[in-house]
Amino acid sequence: MRILITGGAGFIGSALANALVSDQHEVLVLDDLSAGDPTRLAPGVLFHRGTIMDRPKLWTLLQGVDCVYHLAARVVVAESILYPREYNEVNVSGTVALLEAMRDVGIPRLIFTSSGALYGNQERQPISETALPDPTSPYAVSKLAAEHYIQTIGTLWGTKTIILRIFNAYGPGQPILPSHSPVIPQFINQALGGGSLVIFGAGDQTRDFVYVSDVARALVSALHIKPPDRCIINIGGGTEITMNALAREILAQTNSSSNTIYSPVRGGGVSRLQADITLARKMLGFEPQVTLKEGLQRILREDPRFI
Ligand SMILES: NC(=O)c1ccc[n+]([C@@H]2O[C@H](COP(=O)([O-])OP(=O)(O)OC[C@H]3O[C@@H](n4cnc5c(N)ncnc54)[C@H](O)[C@@H]3O)[C@@H](O)[C@H]2O)c1
Repeated sequence: MRILITGGAGFIGSALANALVSDQHEVLVLDDLSAGDPTRLAPGVLFHRGTIMDRPKLWTLLQGVDCVYHLAARVVVAESILYPREYNEVNVSGTVALLEAMRDVGIPRLIFTSSGALYGNQERQPISETALPDPTSPYAVSKLAAEHYIQTIGTLWGTKTIILRIFNAYGPGQPILPSHSPVIPQFINQALGGGSLVIFGAGDQTRDFVYVSDVARALVSALHIKPPDRCIINIGGGTEITMNALAREILAQTNSSSNTIYSPVRGGGVSRLQADITLARKMLGFEPQVTLKEGLQRILREDPRFI
């Protein structure tokens, strides 16, 4: 198949692009490199620098495409609290721009990476797809709004759409940001550098981590299913871990004598996140293959920043 991945030079997008190209698909990537890095892409992936807001470019790239994976987005929760308009512009208006271009060119299928963050604080864990979303940040709002556009427009225009709500992806190459970094590379960096591991809040909040190659496999599987009309599927590891336990595991694996310190809780977070992955098992044959322990070992073995 000929496949376009928006945001394909990013952390998850590059893993997906490389998996698809090794399955002999023709893979095009559109990424504005606001966060991506095209050197992650395997030979054979056709990289194009540009934004999803560029209509003529989208039109050109969409010719002959069988399926679009839409990953391009702004993804930092804390940043979305400061710049909600920018998040709305890229994550919502950008998605609508893509949908319009897909309609104009006649692309039959869209697979979208949504987020477990849109569930917010849920009493009932693990969280199933039937839970009522309760976003706690503009980022989560933007992913939910994009989902609604995708489903509504998909129905109206006859585009087959699949939405994967990904929980916390992690793996080698996940960026460390100057502030508000994803927690795993941040903790590893702090542990190896001999600094303190900074935990926001009491450390009893949980997350459901899923290794990046498992996420890529789930996305690839979605290419081959016949989706029902409304298709939303959780992708997670299916287990939860507290930030305190994560910090202990990383300190043990890095053999670090760093300590943990506690900082006031940040806005936009949630207290517990654990994915119910029953539907992913049923529809995609998805089973996480990499445990958190093994995933952390792989990062320490394979990520050049930490070797
Ligand atoms: N990483 C996670 O834990 C996680 C969890 C849930 C959902 N997701 C979703 O998965 C997708 C990929 O996330 P990621 O973690 O790989 O983030 P990422 O920042 O590494 O990837 C996003 C990519 O989109 C590109 N991009 C941003 N704006 C663009 C635009 N206007 N035009 C073209 N490209 C643009 C960036 O340069 C980047 O390469 C996102 O849609 C995100 O919301 C990620």
